[in-house]
Amino acid sequence: MRITDTADLWWKNAVLYCLDVETFMDWDDDGVGDFTGLAQRLDHLVDLGVTCLWLMPFYPTAERDDGYDITDFYGVDPRLGNHGDVVEVIRTAHDRGLRVIADLVVNHTSDQHPWFKESRKSKDNPYRDWYVWRSDTPPDTSDQVVFPDQEDSIWELDEKTGEYYLHQFYKSQPDLNVTNPVVRDEIAKIVGFWTQLGLDGFRMDAVPFLLDTSGNGDGEAGRLPDPHAYLRDIRAFLDRRTNGGILLGEVNLPFEEQLTFYGGTDGDELTMQFDFIGMQATYLSLARGDAGPLVTALQGRPTTSPDSQWATFVRNHDELTLDKLTEDERQEVFAAFGPEPEMQIYDRGLIRRLPPMLDGDPRRIRMVYSLLFSLPGTPTLFYGEEIGMGEELSVGSRLAVRTPMQWTSGTNGGFSRAKAAKLPGPVVTGGYAPEFVNVADQRKDPDSLLSFFRRLISRRRECPELGWGDFQVLEQPHSAVLAHLCSWDDGALVAVHNLGAEPVTVPLQLADCGPEHLLADLLVDGTTAMDADGCAELTLEGYGHRWLRVVAPGTRRIR
Ligand code: GLC
Repeated sequence: MRITDTADLWWKNAVLYCLDVETFMDWDDDGVGDFTGLAQRLDHLVDLGVTCLWLMPFYPTAERDDGYDITDFYGVDPRLGNHGDVVEVIRTAHDRGLRVIADLVVNHTSDQHPWFKESRKSKDNPYRDWYVWRSDTPPDTSDQVVFPDQEDSIWELDEKTGEYYLHQFYKSQPDLNVTNPVVRDEIAKIVGFWTQLGLDGFRMDAVPFLLDTSGNGDGEAGRLPDPHAYLRDIRAFLDRRTNGGILLGEVNLPFEEQLTFYGGTDGDELTMQFDFIGMQATYLSLARGDAGPLVTALQGRPTTSPDSQWATFVRNHDELTLDKLTEDERQEVFAAFGPEPEMQIYDRGLIRRLPPMLDGDPRRIRMVYSLLFSLPGTPTLFYGEEIGMGEELSVGSRLAVRTPMQWTSGTNGGFSRAKAAKLPGPVVTGGYAPEFVNVADQRKDPDSLLSFFRRLISRRRECPELGWGDFQVLEQPHSAVLAHLCSWDDGALVAVHNLGAEPVTVPLQLADCGPEHLLADLLVDGTTAMDADGCAELTLEGYGHRWLRVVAPGTRRIR
């Protein structure tokens, strides 16, 4: 393994940052964030140290699902800017060494998309087959809906033609029919269009739903014979059109099924996938103060191609889904982090951000992010995490965590100079309001969470063994502690995290180490000696965290 490999397989040592242009920075004072505002704030992201932006949907939309209901895949929501503004952002980001990916939401369109408007006009409309229609009465599909608060079926009767269309999400989001080769060609064109404008890949929305054509009529004949061949086609097309473009897929399925979405160990389908299993296990571990569930999840990850990578996260723009836990486990997490009904959604998730869930305890918040950045995978942040933003529960939906970015303590948190009523949603109120949580105050404070993130990200980037290396859980006696070793040829790093409130002394033994080795702290000053058997004792405060490089004699790696 050469250090220069990290430039080719850049996603393996990246730090991703997800933002919605709409809520990030409003530059023209209309109350809505825009690309010009984002361009102004790229240097904040550079300063933070992230290396790849993930832009949530910025396309024209009917605004029924916060932009995930698209009315023109080739357009730009005029409130956010135009194609010129997008290109300026991509170009400026590239100048700063930032890559840019964006949401590719092609499982469905908005019902306001011209294709669907045509499709529903008549059974013989040329666009009829762009969507999935059935004439017979559908069976009960209430157990298959994604948003049970709004929908009770994945089929909706369309009065005009008397047939039902498939919508696996909201009824305002009819599913595209990817068994139609014309639709597949159009999707490729969309990929080609945005990569031509400079995008470095896509966060691919709802991939299992896209590939699932079992809802199509005509039995086997109407289905994609090999859905994964289609995903391979998209990846191959992206590879041809870009220099190292990625597909980061949303696939919330058990690990073994996720492996198939990587293309098994061939790694020729999705480049990356979110680790939903590890994320949910992390919360169970935090709730219990027991590293066990997280260890089980990490050890349960299947072996992938060396080119594939997991995207790790503790929060995203959706509900904090706990759908892969058992009912009892889910209730444990609810009790610990979201006991009130208004904090919960769809009987499976929470609409809170991390800091309020941890009662604002800085030790726990930092420990969790230190853990996230030390686990194998590519850490993915949701805007505002770097300053410890909270949610606005009064919003009462997934949008509770999609409030305007908090830049200053001033009006609207410095996000916009427009009247509050013109903003896309309320600014956070209460203890996490901009008055208390904002970028400006934290920038110059060496002890702020933002400064902590800068250090964490810079160390993470210097330690590619975290993203690339072999991962091993180290034996030690405390159930509250996760101690792990990441190693690659010329280096090894030990990370130790205490999920419990009590201070601990952690005895560790490292193979092939002796008194000539040293453990050097990477996040603070300090070194720990090792004895003749490769043993060392590490002390940690309650909710403490440490990263230590195993320093071999004569090593030239910087610490
Ligand atoms: C994905 C997105 C979510 C959206 C849904 C439908 O799950 O993350 O925000 O509502 O797809 O597009």
